[in-house]
Amino acid sequence: MYLTKEEERIYDGELGWANQICMKILAHLGELFGADKLIPIDSAHISGVSYKTLGDAPSDFLKALAKANAKVQVKATTNPHSIDKGYICRKIPQEMCQKQRTITKTFEKMGLKNTLTCTPYYLEKPKRNSHMAWSESSAVVYANSVLKAWTNREGGPSALAAAIIGKTPNYGMHRTEEREPKAIVTLNTKLKNETEFGALGILLGEILDDKIPAIKGLESASKDDLKQLGAAMASTGMVNMFHLHYDESIRTENLEKINVERKDLIQVSQKLTTSTKKPDLVFIGCPHCSLNEIKRISSLINNKKTKSDVEFWVCTSWHIKEKAGKYADKIEKCGGHIITDTCAVVTWTEKLGIKTIMTNSAKTAHYAPTLNKAETIFTPLENCLKAVLKE
Ligand code: F3S
Repeated sequence: MYLTKEEERIYDGELGWANQICMKILAHLGELFGADKLIPIDSAHISGVSYKTLGDAPSDFLKALAKANAKVQVKATTNPHSIDKGYICRKIPQEMCQKQRTITKTFEKMGLKNTLTCTPYYLEKPKRNSHMAWSESSAVVYANSVLKAWTNREGGPSALAAAIIGKTPNYGMHRTEEREPKAIVTLNTKLKNETEFGALGILLGEILDDKIPAIKGLESASKDDLKQLGAAMASTGMVNMFHLHYDESIRTENLEKINVERKDLIQVSQKLTTSTKKPDLVFIGCPHCSLNEIKRISSLINNKKTKSDVEFWVCTSWHIKEKAGKYADKIEKCGGHIITDTCAVVTWTEKLGIKTIMTNSAKTAHYAPTLNKAETIFTPLENCLKAVLKE
């Protein structure tokens, strides 16, 4: 991969250890994936922020970078970490909260904005056709497919390196030809709710691996449904993008053809439910809720109250919580918790005694058995609310 004179100086360590290591990460990635050069980026979004998933060794690496005066060159935001500002934090060992705060402060020291959300696009929508280095898989698919921005699925370290250098290697989703569809998916059934979009994502991720699909039949899908589709697709596969509109001019001879029937979605949904027990937690907000989703939850609650033996969490960003005002208040008055900065998957649900999670998110239902050691019940929002609200 070609490096400019200035990039070579950084590579050789003339601008210090932190810049050198970041440039080396980017140069090696570029070599590995056949990039021709580095290109400037508008923004970076960094995952791997939760102490639960990160552990001690990567935290030490981050501290070393900050100590060496590493600073981000572009707008850089962070994914959810392992605690909220109060409710969850009060219930888990303070030593773990402290370790998390240290990591989060380290990011701040390097100039990142601690947005602590997996939906950074609700805070500021990326520009169409802008190049970025984002590392939250659900946000990557949403950005490429719905917002038409350009980003590879970075790992936490490569997104941080890109933020510090202000550039990313030019390969994959940054090239027009790599964004072409490689498969045509025909939906032979109409999708009725968010869980069916999630189930479709889980199914396509398994079949497609990293092949970009053009999907026929998504014309009337809402952005929230597409968010569920992309998050689920990225959970079981390496797909970074889907085409919403099927372009009749696409030459289809060499493309894989996939037909999706109702029975396929039912099968996936059944697999995402592992329990018939009463849930300990009803969790909505994976990926973090949009304002519309909060409004919808609030309107479905009516004036009911939550049951005393089931937790009710609605996860979102502090930005959306502030905007949600009276809608958020209504959820909290009914006994639910609007939780920001974290989510059920990246916090320590086991430490809170949560053994069964009910959710309308296919991504959570897919990961909770391993990451939370919890059983799952995967069902639409209306059923989630029935399970947590008193009659
Ligand atoms: Fe976001 Fe947590 Fe889901 S980080 S995408 S709510 S697993």
